[in-house]
Amino acid sequence: MNFYEEYKKLKCAFETYLERSVTADVPARLRESMNYSLLGGGKRLRPVLYLSVLCSYGITPRESDYRFASAIECVHTYSLIHDDLPVMDNDDVRRGRPTNHKVYGEATALLAGDALLTLAFELAGKCAALDPLYAEAVYVLARNAGACGMVGGQAMEFSCGTPDAKLLSNITLLKTGKLIEASVICGTIAADRKENIAAWLDFSDSFGKAFQLCDDLQDIEKGEHSLASVLGKDNAKKYLNELTERAVNALDKTDGNTEFLGELTKAVLLRAKDGI
Ligand code: IPE
Ligand code: IPE
Ligand code: MG
Ligand code: MG
Repeated sequence: MNFYEEYKKLKCAFETYLERSVTADVPARLRESMNYSLLGGGKRLRPVLYLSVLCSYGITPRESDYRFASAIECVHTYSLIHDDLPVMDNDDVRRGRPTNHKVYGEATALLAGDALLTLAFELAGKCAALDPLYAEAVYVLARNAGACGMVGGQAMEFSCGTPDAKLLSNITLLKTGKLIEASVICGTIAADRKENIAAWLDFSDSFGKAFQLCDDLQDIEKGEHSLASVLGKDNAKKYLNELTERAVNALDKTDGNTEFLGELTKAVLLRAKDGI
């Protein structure tokens, strides 16, 4: 199987599970709004990272792993719905379709985000209730998604005026890096390989920074203030290559078979990241 086939297989297996996440007893319009964003495309990068850490240690993902990966994707999806709202980035289009609030209105979009965040911890909590191995992963997900992680980064972005390169880098570390880190570290915990956490932290640190830089570079023509625009296009590309190399090198120290993750890293960071 080549890289793209393997990626597609993991993504499809995950999406089959994800489709069942919002149950039929949720009020109809709220359910529709949640599923509009949850099942409306996306690379599924964070769940794929979580699942491929397990695979790197020869573990076939269990039902609880698909459930935990769904929890991570619910956090990601809620963050995008809220990020697009008029009080935040005021965006009309996401993944080539109208944003959630454009279709369902701001109140329902806000609540769909709230409900997805709550659902994330219902799913993750169920994993921990069934197997104590996942308890620490629930903590890591909460810590990285919250005020000291992704939400903190979003808050800093909205309160810092025009940040310099150092501050932009700190904001990225939180708003984008922390959920990527959680995906990788929760996978490490679920694989029961905590002795390898330092190497996985190295990997996710470089990957997270590079991922945001890649996103900024794609948006550079829009004239938005970002690390890529502060560094300039050529320097940003050079830094992106450095970070990608660092991420790939960190994989060598994880003690697993990381061939797929190495390919994934290069596919996401060096080619157009929407190519996957
Ligand atoms: C977009 O994330 C938001 C950032 C954190 C840069 P993704 O690029 O992973 O979004 P989807 O899920 O694939 O659309
Ligand atoms: C989104 O960041 C990050 C989170 C939702 C936490 P951006 O606002 O930079 O990303 P896009 O361009 O809307 O995907
Ligand atoms: Mg934003
Ligand atoms: Mg945005």
